[in-house]
Amino acid sequence: MSSAVAAPVPALAARMGRITVSATAAMVMEAERLRASGADLVDFGAGEPDFPTPEPIKQAAREALDANFTRYTATGGIAPLKDAICRRHAELCGSSFTREQVLVTLGGKHALFNAISALISAGDEVLLPAPYWVSFHDMITYAGGTPVIVPTDEAAGFTLTPAMLTARLTPRTRMILLNSPSNPSGAVFSRELFQAALELCRERGIWLLSDECYLQFVYDGAPYSVAGEPGPLDNLIIAGSLSKTYAMTGWRLGYALGPKAVIAAMLNLQSHSTSNPVSFVQKAAVAALTGSQQPVTDMLAEYRRRRTLMIEGLRSIPGISCTLPQGAFYAYPNIARLLRPGAATPMEFSGRLLHEAGVVTVPGEAFGTASHLRLSYATSAAQIEKGLDRLRRFCAGL
Ligand SMILES: Cc1ncc(COP(=O)(O)O)c(C=O)c1O
Repeated sequence: MSSAVAAPVPALAARMGRITVSATAAMVMEAERLRASGADLVDFGAGEPDFPTPEPIKQAAREALDANFTRYTATGGIAPLKDAICRRHAELCGSSFTREQVLVTLGGKHALFNAISALISAGDEVLLPAPYWVSFHDMITYAGGTPVIVPTDEAAGFTLTPAMLTARLTPRTRMILLNSPSNPSGAVFSRELFQAALELCRERGIWLLSDECYLQFVYDGAPYSVAGEPGPLDNLIIAGSLSKTYAMTGWRLGYALGPKAVIAAMLNLQSHSTSNPVSFVQKAAVAALTGSQQPVTDMLAEYRRRRTLMIEGLRSIPGISCTLPQGAFYAYPNIARLLRPGAATPMEFSGRLLHEAGVVTVPGEAFGTASHLRLSYATSAAQIEKGLDRLRRFCAGL
């Protein structure tokens, strides 16, 4: 029997008010809705490789399933995978992590979440260069911290100088969070910047958290990790992921590397939430890290070709300027000269572009800048050409 007085609705936890639905997710949802109703869309929104996972990795997962490797494993990952992560990182970057310094997680995002949860308290400030990846901001606020935004230099390819970091330090600064190559800007920070950031963290007794999700997708030179620097690394935590490197986004496999005490704290947290990463995915990850790396080289070569197509195309559209991404697979064009009533913000521009021209992009507001769009070029050359053509016509008609 229904009562006349509505029962009070139980409230969500207050901390839920500190996070937002990401604009990326909102745009993806709207695109899905349109697609379901039959719209022909060009998708520059997705932040993931369009390649299938390489066959040997899939084979290793099948073999693990056939061998019934389907039970709980050690919470922080199986020893052969920890060793494979350390070895691969050492080969690539000259680091020297040991098994006790690794935590295997359910994706790079999980490693970052565990690290920020373990290290950030209410009132702590985290230096966060903008444009930043959406989730950094909300992971910090969820933990009770305050992101202190450090605008980067667009004219210098969205890079930073040590002075730009130093200027934002306060007695409450507890962490510097760097992501290079960057999502969304494609910026690659210099070795000097990382060395200076590490030195600042050592002097101040604060953390450097480095997100290396796109470590291997650099277009000039070799992958660089600050973990290869000499001297004590007591202040450094690395978050890494197999998602993009091996086209394994759906498999959910990432890792953290850092001081034993921090890894132990993150392990403790993980033991009370997700427990171990998926058992047979761990076997597949060993195959990915220890097998032929040719697929990674091939994917990077393809991204390089697509980068040229995307950036040259964007630069040829009147009103758009675009820096050349040095890594990852995103273009981050500046559309300030095209903003006008009716398309006054990247959010409005991106919304109209979706509904009127069928092109999915992510507005710059999501990444903390006011005049940009993010376009992923992890899609086929044919789609890139088609999307650019639509974008050109849309801009001409504004
Ligand atoms: C900068 C950055 N870090 C981390 C991640 C996390 O990736 P995953 O959780 O799939 O490993 C992403 C994914 O888009 C990313 O762009």
